[in-house]
Amino acid sequence: MRRKLAAGNWKMNGLRSSLDELDALAKAHPDPDCDLLICPPATLIAAAVDRCQGGPLRIGGQTCHMNMEGPHTGDISAQMLRDVGATAVILGHSERRADHGESSEDVRTLAQMAQAAGLQTVICVGESQFQREATNTLDIIGAQLSLSIPDSSTGENLVVAYEPIWAIGTGQIPTADQIGEVHDFIRARLEQRFGYGVGKSVRLLYGGSVKADNAQEIFGISNVDGALVGGASLTAKDFSPIIEALEASALPADS
Ligand code: PGA
Repeated sequence: MRRKLAAGNWKMNGLRSSLDELDALAKAHPDPDCDLLICPPATLIAAAVDRCQGGPLRIGGQTCHMNMEGPHTGDISAQMLRDVGATAVILGHSERRADHGESSEDVRTLAQMAQAAGLQTVICVGESQFQREATNTLDIIGAQLSLSIPDSSTGENLVVAYEPIWAIGTGQIPTADQIGEVHDFIRARLEQRFGYGVGKSVRLLYGGSVKADNAQEIFGISNVDGALVGGASLTAKDFSPIIEALEASALPADS
């Protein structure tokens, strides 16, 4: 059984006062039936780790550099994230791919570094609106998967997030059938590449406009093991009901 995962991506949002939201989340979910991960901006990671010590929330980064150290002004390495207590990092988010020209090959290098530093990697894939309309979504996702995911991946250090670019921050979400088709495809590809055991154990998240009112339906889709949530992860008030929907989906059907 894969343990469900609710991950929050705060993007370039959050000041020190936002750490109160972490206290509120930890208080609302002291012993959750799923894993909880928050990826705040780099400026808050160390303080967030301190705040969350001994509680249910893990803290992660939103990207890292492809070197462990060196002359790279403004960048942060995987070992630096690990050093301050982060346990995971989001890689290859479509905003990084678009704003910083990260290719899938780059993402694979970042993921190798992050996994070598002992971080769990949440690798994002997703098609644009244009690609979806041209009906080659699975080709796009297939290529992103094979190029972005390093051979060093395991069920523990890899999480894959399917995030259609057109659904991010737009309030538009794919149909349940569209999400299911892509998630089943990702699962099959992982099983093919890494073998059935490993492929089966990697968690697959859906991301893009996940909110309290659509979470239950999304979490009922096959091979959806949780969500990567942007806007609705910024406050405990918005994120809590999503966590509750995920916990409910983790219970056996007859309970
Ligand atoms: P959103 O962002 O939930 O605000 O759509 C999701 C993401 O980009 O990870």
